[in-house]
Amino acid sequence: MSTINYSEKIPNNVNLSEDRTLQRALEGWQPNFINWWDDVGPEGSTNHEVYLRTAVSVDPQGWAQFGHVKMRDYRWGIFLNPGEAERKIHFGDHKGEAAWNDVPGEHRANLRRIIVTQGDTEPASVEQQRHLGLTAPSMYDLRNLFQINVEEGRHLWAMVYLLHKHFGRDGREEAEALLQRTSGDQDNPRILGAFNEETPDWLAFFMFTYFTDRDGKFQLSALAESAFDPLARTTKFMLTEEAHHMFVGESGVSRVLQRTAQVMNELKTDDPAKVRAAGAIDLGTVQRYLNFHYSVTIDLFGADQSSNAAIFYSSGLKGRYEEGKRTDDHVLKGQTYKVLEVKDGQLTEKEVPMLNALNEVLRDDFITDSVAGVNRWNKVLEKAGIPTRLTVPHKAFNRQIGALAGIKMSPEGRVVNDAEWNAKKAEWLPTPEDFAFVASLMGRVVEPGKFAGWIAPPVMGINRQPVDFEYVRFG
Ligand SMILES: [Fe+2]
Ligand SMILES: [Fe+2]
Repeated sequence: MSTINYSEKIPNNVNLSEDRTLQRALEGWQPNFINWWDDVGPEGSTNHEVYLRTAVSVDPQGWAQFGHVKMRDYRWGIFLNPGEAERKIHFGDHKGEAAWNDVPGEHRANLRRIIVTQGDTEPASVEQQRHLGLTAPSMYDLRNLFQINVEEGRHLWAMVYLLHKHFGRDGREEAEALLQRTSGDQDNPRILGAFNEETPDWLAFFMFTYFTDRDGKFQLSALAESAFDPLARTTKFMLTEEAHHMFVGESGVSRVLQRTAQVMNELKTDDPAKVRAAGAIDLGTVQRYLNFHYSVTIDLFGADQSSNAAIFYSSGLKGRYEEGKRTDDHVLKGQTYKVLEVKDGQLTEKEVPMLNALNEVLRDDFITDSVAGVNRWNKVLEKAGIPTRLTVPHKAFNRQIGALAGIKMSPEGRVVNDAEWNAKKAEWLPTPEDFAFVASLMGRVVEPGKFAGWIAPPVMGINRQPVDFEYVRFG
């Protein structure tokens, strides 16, 4: 089962040819997907041949093959990690029972909602990133952008397969609707807030892939625990691909910092105006972008207290991050968790039933993981002898969802009044001037081995190719 059948129209390791009805339904959806790609996928990329990895097995050793392909000919397929014989549900009220190969009637609506919400983020990010190819800082970066785009397309396929196979007519309608909503569309937007924001420039792209693709990692990890085995198996394989997306974000920001530090050292200055005049991105701007992407992304985990989160867990639909490594009872009844709330204009902690706080638990796991990478960014500054450090803002900063949405908070975690918020906002979040400045740096640099002046080259290329490899052949 782990080898993928590429002789079919839709590459797959799920024996698709044995289910003709399903195969025909998916082959009917395929041209709609390609139309969607042509309409709102990477702009002006149709004739490029891109050095892409394509999944050829789900074996952790050597699952991908690299080669130049036109993106619209990319072999988007359906790949599930191998099933575990006699897998048992390992959390919630059904703990110890056999995992489900099909959707139990009573969980159908909730599972559909979970799959549609995850599926909606995948094409959304392709739409958000569609103009970035026109301003790539290098051919290497252009290739990475396109790699992420095709894989987000494949993640859409992964969710659409589940909808078609397990949800009948409703599922087919949802699969169509996934191609009809559009990021940022007034009338028919994507489901979640962060996926309707613009990704206007490459600094935003790197922050997005660092923070928002990491939200993907945590959501997928929670779904990889699911009692619904096909969902668990497909999300496990998606996680394999996701790692590269976060690498692009982390290394991208590192390279921006490296270049900025170099300019600061050459000019012996920390004056943002001088750094900007030299064509690098000042650290204040990097921090404001970080504040924005971090706060918008942690909103994606949802309300701090949620009865849905409790239901999803207890019924076995969605576990915690690394559920299997935890040593508690995996049922969580009677346990509590601390969440923040606003009382008389101040933040206080309160204990609530843990089952209702599972969004917060996942958000806190995400925060721990995010901070680790920010610390690695700070090592770049430290090594260059620059005393400034980046920090993630307080959890309650700039929140739009949950109990914390009601207050104004400084990045350090001080409650502020409207007057102070309005006076300081331009120090805390990217301003129109910041966006205009970063936009002014975004020129297209695509000769092999050349890099825009605001970013350092990477340490090495992709798949052991040299940095100046021809990653994209322009047609
Ligand atoms: Fe994805
Ligand atoms: Fe991703």
